[in-house]
Amino acid sequence: MSIEELESIAQAMVAPGKGIIAIDESNSTIKKRFDTVGVPNTEENRRAYREMLLTTPKLNEHISGAILYDETIRQSTKAGVPFTKLMLDAGILPGIKVDKGPQALAGFPGELVTEGLDGLRDRLNEYARLGAKFAKWRAVITIGEDTPSGTCIEANSHALARYAALCQEAGIVPMVEPEVLMDGNHDLEDSYEVTEATLRSLFGAMYEHNIMLEGSILKASMVISGKECAEQASVDEVAEATIRCLKAAVPASLPGIVFLSGGQSDEQATAHLNAMNQMGPHPWPLSFSYGRAMQQAALKLWGKDMQANFAEAQKTVALRAKDNGLAALGQWKKVA
Ligand code: 13P
Repeated sequence: MSIEELESIAQAMVAPGKGIIAIDESNSTIKKRFDTVGVPNTEENRRAYREMLLTTPKLNEHISGAILYDETIRQSTKAGVPFTKLMLDAGILPGIKVDKGPQALAGFPGELVTEGLDGLRDRLNEYARLGAKFAKWRAVITIGEDTPSGTCIEANSHALARYAALCQEAGIVPMVEPEVLMDGNHDLEDSYEVTEATLRSLFGAMYEHNIMLEGSILKASMVISGKECAEQASVDEVAEATIRCLKAAVPASLPGIVFLSGGQSDEQATAHLNAMNQMGPHPWPLSFSYGRAMQQAALKLWGKDMQANFAEAQKTVALRAKDNGLAALGQWKKVA
């Protein structure tokens, strides 16, 4: 695949007013989500839940792509239509989570490094055959008393760059995700410093590994106060610090940046994205790739009664897509 093709996929992912829905929870993560609403974590329930999300009427109006999990990319609707076909027919790009999750980084207590490079070339080629147009790899950086270490940041950046190179070789756009966690009592300034150091390291590693930035997408965490921090930064403070950080560390040749929600409430995630776009124009389109902030309301309804609440649950997905699509344009208005 040519760089032009990768570039046009990346651009489509961040088309004006559109963003990504992340439904790539691993089987152990979806269990945690299902547990909150009392749904047994069976393969059929996971399939039915993802079918509800992906068949939301007019999902393609504000959603450009969806990130799937390995099991999900092989699944079909109850009527037998493969999810990837359903998506491609609707103009929704299939994405795939390809990392194998964060593991303890030996020698660095409390820190994590994401695994999954072994055999990745073959897996990516298979995912490309199954219809995947982009792939996600999530690295996790934890802010604590003595963390993150430079070693942890570098190890994760190196893995992200190697994964990105393999993606581009397979004709798949890498969505590189270095998530700086919101967990902890750190303040906005700590979040800024760690996020800037992480992004600088990541783009250094991507340069060393010959990654074509024009065919890549960054999935970023916002610069935000730790959940347990006594002083919570305002919406405008979060937006301003995040923009300042991205401008300091992310090359302008990148086609777009999408944010994860990371444990923010639905409204916070939308308000932050909206505020950032109102401060524009910026060097890149800023959009969303939310998991929880797209699904929370739908899961609650669907979990209560899968049949009776099916359409209501889909309505909340459509509404979250619409609100976040407006926020990607800086046109969202809070309902009083
Ligand atoms: P959240 O928006 O729930 O953080 O999930 C996005 C994601 O894909 C994290 O890897």
